[in-house]
Formats: sequence, C-alpha cells, structure tokens
Amino acid sequence: MKPYFNFPFLLQFSVLFVQLYGGASSYGEALSKSIMFFEGQRSGFLPKDQRLNWRGNSGLGDGSADNVDLIGGYYDAGDNVKFGFPMAFTTTMLAWSVIEFGEMMPPAELRNALVAIHWGTDYLLKTVAEPDRIYVQVGDPVKDHNCWERPEDMDTDRTVYRVDAPNPASDVAGETAAALAAASMAFRSSDPGYSQTILTTAIKVFEFADTYRGAYSDNTDIRSGACPFYCDYDGYQASDELLWGAAWLARASDDVKYMSYIENNAKPLGADENIYEFGWENKHAGLNVLVSKQVLEGNVYALESYKASAESFICTLLPDSSSWHIEYSPGGLIYRPGGSNLQHSTAITFLMLVYANYLEASSSSVNCGNISVGPAYLRGLAKYQVDYILGENPKGMSYMVGYGNNYPQRIHHRGSSLPSVWNHPKPIQCKEGTIYFNSSDPNPNVLIGAIVGGPQEDDEYGDDRADSRKSEPTTYINAPFVGVLAFFNANPSLTQVSTPK
Ligand SMILES: *[C@@H]1O[C@H](CO)[C@@H](O)[C@H](O)[C@H]1NC(C)=O
Ligand SMILES: *[C@@H]1O[C@H](CO)[C@@H](O)[C@H](O)[C@H]1NC(C)=O
Repeated sequence: MKPYFNFPFLLQFSVLFVQLYGGASSYGEALSKSIMFFEGQRSGFLPKDQRLNWRGNSGLGDGSADNVDLIGGYYDAGDNVKFGFPMAFTTTMLAWSVIEFGEMMPPAELRNALVAIHWGTDYLLKTVAEPDRIYVQVGDPVKDHNCWERPEDMDTDRTVYRVDAPNPASDVAGETAAALAAASMAFRSSDPGYSQTILTTAIKVFEFADTYRGAYSDNTDIRSGACPFYCDYDGYQASDELLWGAAWLARASDDVKYMSYIENNAKPLGADENIYEFGWENKHAGLNVLVSKQVLEGNVYALESYKASAESFICTLLPDSSSWHIEYSPGGLIYRPGGSNLQHSTAITFLMLVYANYLEASSSSVNCGNISVGPAYLRGLAKYQVDYILGENPKGMSYMVGYGNNYPQRIHHRGSSLPSVWNHPKPIQCKEGTIYFNSSDPNPNVLIGAIVGGPQEDDEYGDDRADSRKSEPTTYINAPFVGVLAFFNANPSLTQVSTPK
C-alpha cells in the first residue's frame, strides 16, 4: 500500500499551523482533563470532592441480585453497564501510565491519577473476593441500551454475571490479575499496604485464570450479557491475557516463577502470533513491548522472541520503512476500521512512547528493513498523533471534550446528554430520554476530558449523538492517553515526526 500523504508536507503544515494559531497544545491542561474524565464515569457513591459535579450517586444496589456488594467501578462508555473486561484493561493502562510516566506528572495530577486507579481496583477487588469466582459484569446490556437514562435514574435489570470454577474466565481474570499487579506497582510508594493487598490478590486471581483455561464468553450464561459488546472473540484459551497477566506479575512480584511462565508458554500460548493490535480485546502488542524491557535491560535471551515481535510491531507503524503496514488517514491519524478508532490511536501511541523509553535506557534502536529508528523518531511519530487528537487536524477539531475551542458537543453519552439530576430532579424514564437523544442541541453536561471514538478514515467527523462509533467516549480510549499526555507535558518541545537519517 502506498502512503496517503507525505510527512514532510505535514511537518511544514504543522509548523505553519503553530505559527498562525499561536503555540503548541497545552499538554498540561489536556493531562488534567484526561484524568478528570474518569470521575464522570464513576458508578457508586460519589465522594465530596467529586469534580464533575453534575453527576450523582448511582448503581447503589449493584450486586444485590446475587447478595454481594458490587457497588462502584466505572461505566465503560456512554451507557450504564459495568463490563469487567474493559474495566480491568482500563485500570491496567492507567496503572501503566503511572508506572512509566508518573514521575513526569505534576504532583497534583499524579494524585488524581492514583485516585482514578484506586476507583478501578477497589471495584476489581470486590469482583474477586471469593476464591475461584469472578464477577464479570453488572447490568443487562440489551435492556440498558434500549433506554436513554441517566445512571442516577437507571431502573433496568442490574443482572449480575459471574463465572465459577471449573468454568473458565482466563481473559477477564487474566486482565484483572494484570490490573491488580500493575496497580500494586503504581501504589508501592504512596500506599505500601494497599499495594501488597492487591498484589496478593492478583496472584490468586492469576491462579484461577490459568488453572481453568478458556474464554469467559464461551459460557452461555455470560455470552448473553457480554456479547456482542465485550466478547473475547480472539479467545483461544484467552492466551494473550494469561501471558499478559503473568508478565505483569513478573514485574510486580519479582517472583521468577512468572518469568519462567512467560518463557515456557511463549510458544504454547502463541506469544509470537503477530497481531498488530492493542486494546481491551487483544494484548499481544502491549505484552511484547512490556516484556521487551527485560530483554533490552538485561540478558534474558529466553525472552528474545518477545522483543522480536515488539520490534516487528513497531516497524509496521513507520511510513518510511519497507515494513510499514498500519493505515493512516489522509490527515495522518492511525486508523483501523471498526469504530471507536481513537482507542487504537491512543493505545498505539502509548506503546511508541514506552518503547522509546526502553530503547533510550539501553541506547538501542529498532531495525525495520531499510531503516533504523531510535527514540526520537518514535516520539516524533507519537507527537503527531497527540497533536492531531488535540486539534491539529484537517477539521481543526479537538477530539477531547472540554479542550480547545472546537470540540464534540453531542457525544453519545447518557449522563452528559440528559439534564443533570441537580437541575431536573424528577426521574427521566427509559423512553422519556429519547427527546434528549434526538435533540440537535449540545449536551448540557460537559464530560470534561472525554476522548470520543473520533473521525472516520477520511478525517471527517459529524458530531452526531446517534453515531456512537464516532461520538462515544470510552474509558480505554482515555487510559493510555493519560501516560502519553504526561510525557508530552514534560517534553513539550520535541519535534513532530523527525525523519530518520
Ligand atoms: C524503504 O522502502 C520503502 C518501500 O519499499 C520506500 O517507500 C522507502 O522510501 C524506503 N525508505 C528509505 C529510507 O530508503
Ligand atoms: C426520535 O427520532 C427517531 C428517528 O429519527 C424518530 O423515529 C422518533 O419518533 C423520535 N422520537 C422522539 C420522541 O422525538
């Protein structure tokens, strides 16, 4: 495939843009907002210091259908269901953001990021409180999606979905182990007791994931709730989450057992299947990047295949290389078909920056066929994605709500689009919300920091509430972007897309 655009032209264009429009993006403001967004997604009792104050308490009976406490956690997107699989992935990515870039964050934002992780881990701990059991979801998604209701009013069935051994849930349990292990590292200095608790839990949850192997959505009781939303489609034995969970435990616990696990299971669990994707459904690219740290820093030859896979992934991103494979829009945005595109852009951008850090720490570079690139090039490529998302794009639009002068006004989000409970205390029933859904007015409540699904492959964006593929925010679009913004806030003047020489 031939390039759709040429980078030198875009480079000139963006230099001109910055000259005309007065300065680079304010990464610090974007960082702060990207974290604030998570407060808008909270379920449960809201604390007094809740900043997105148009929200109220919700889901206070969650878990009662099974006589357990499943209050709290995050709504995944613009609906009111709590899906465990993407929630755990979101928590892992928030934690990875802090592990990799937390030291670069202003202290107040590091605190806010830790609070956002805590909100996730507190809920995840509830889902795995019983041995060999995991609660994977709360809320009947079909009934929920059929209504346009505020979380504070929601009255559809809060069905509780759980998996008990010997039924498998290697995907959700593996991702939950990853989230708790990664978070244990994020909390290590600020809250050592909590850090230890969640690490111990991660070890038990991983045991459950590994002992009973398979995808949670192969279970018919679960499939009706999780599919087609967060089905584990790629889930042959949910092998990517097993390796991913073990890789995080290897880093968090220093127990050689997990290092041996990722060594010995690389082949049987298909670590080298090169799937050029990183998101809630597929962990391969992230796994390979994560494990490469060990290879680049030490002499762990047994893990060399992970590094080879990570580099072949990185090479697919480079338009100047003969290994280039990933699609970019004409305006230069990483693009994958299938909706909610910015989840790919933010997660892949995160991996570019993490890999750049690992390369820098080991004074290495990546060989991609006819070119070789180092950290500066990867950071330049990452900066291009960030600046695009924040407004330097053909539409001149920021895809972060509440950031810049021109951002999405009609996001596909129930709470944001319906009047706040404080202004309209009377409940708005299921179908009574439709007039707000149909309205062409801007949403009354600004979900500050939410990054939407984003433009389509030709860089167009309609700002249409009904077009959920473009206008719906999700927690896993934002989570990796927190780390990305922390990096650019600390390094604002790097050059976009420097060409390797
Ligand atoms: C590398 O190869 C690709 C495709 O074969 C080509 O488009 C590109 O210009 C080459 N890059 C360099 C730096 O030679
Ligand atoms: C909302 O829009 C749909 C499709 O355009 C229409 O069928 C429906 O009658 C509208 N409902 C209300 C309450 O405005």
